[in-house]
Amino acid sequence: MWRDILSKIKSLPDSVTAPDLAELLSLDDPEYTKCLFRDAYMIKEKNVGKVVYLRGLIEISNICEQDCYYCGIRRGNKSVNRFVMTEEEVIEAALWAWRKCYGSVVLQAGERRDDEFAGFIENVVREIKLRSNGKLGVTLSLGEQDEAVYRRWFDAGAHRYLLRIETSEKEFFKTIHPGGQEFESRLNCLKILRKTGYQVGTGVMIGLPFQSAQSLAGDIMFFKAMDIDMLGMGPYIPHHGTPLAARVDDYTPEARFNMTLRMIALCRLLMPGINIASTTALQALNPYGREMGLKAGANVIMPNITPGKYRQDYELYPGKPCVSDTPDECGECLTRRVKSIGETIGVGEWGDSPHAVARKKGVEVYG
Ligand code: 5AD
Ligand code: FES
Repeated sequence: MWRDILSKIKSLPDSVTAPDLAELLSLDDPEYTKCLFRDAYMIKEKNVGKVVYLRGLIEISNICEQDCYYCGIRRGNKSVNRFVMTEEEVIEAALWAWRKCYGSVVLQAGERRDDEFAGFIENVVREIKLRSNGKLGVTLSLGEQDEAVYRRWFDAGAHRYLLRIETSEKEFFKTIHPGGQEFESRLNCLKILRKTGYQVGTGVMIGLPFQSAQSLAGDIMFFKAMDIDMLGMGPYIPHHGTPLAARVDDYTPEARFNMTLRMIALCRLLMPGINIASTTALQALNPYGREMGLKAGANVIMPNITPGKYRQDYELYPGKPCVSDTPDECGECLTRRVKSIGETIGVGEWGDSPHAVARKKGVEVYG
């Protein structure tokens, strides 16, 4: 019974099992979801407050060496118009975010493992830190790299890194990636990132073809076991230019959306002190998707601050919101949205998760 499992989560979170979570993920009953979201919101309020942190997302380049079966900018999609922002454009976008009192920026791009790219990112990070007097936080989301490269970027001033595992189930990982892209290698990168000193974020897509509630329950157990600091999960949205879109599908967009909200809520209940993003993909499926993510327990939003001329070419999935908006419009719109649900924006703060702060101090965080 869902009530019993929910009370177990609150009283004895460490005793919750993957089958318990799978049961809660499979249920779509309105009374249950109301209770689930209310509980998750209370835990969020208590642990991270009614404050939303903004991360200005800069989509630096859509050139990608990888060929993930789901992603619109995969190497094999020949109809993509490839771009790279200049160093000065990236720095300008980041400083714009700083002037607007965003606490930090996320630099995201397709995966490139060449030395020129590593140097480009290093310069950009160093320059952003220098010109913001070390005040603007820099998070990277640039895929799998060698330890030495992660180290170079960390030394240049980046302090958080996002690398989604996409699914924690090794066999399932193989069905959504081509040979040569290995689960172990991704996992190893997450471990190296932690060792290097980054606050580490990961996440999965939700509602992939043949992805079961058991598999998603396993993902939650994985996040806990990896002791992650940040979480970014979004619904999978089929992209016509990718192989996965042709696969027979057992999810409706609504089912994916609701499953994502339940994942957010359960993760908040089990990992009270981490940062959880209410991702843009949620808004692609529902105009109020990001607000609903916040109401289900998320506490971070990533407004897109990529210059307008590049936005339409960074199409990971179709129907991405804000493609024709300017950074100013996105900022104002999001501020309105956050206020509409009675929360405030964390102005000029890095907004490190209490979990990461506590771990740095070496204290026990959960339980
Ligand atoms: N639908 C939803 N999310 C996607 N991503 C890539 N392609 C899609 C898609 N079709 C997500 C992946 C990746 C992140 C940058 O974008 O999880 O890690
Ligand atoms: Fe971009 Fe609303 S979030 S315009």
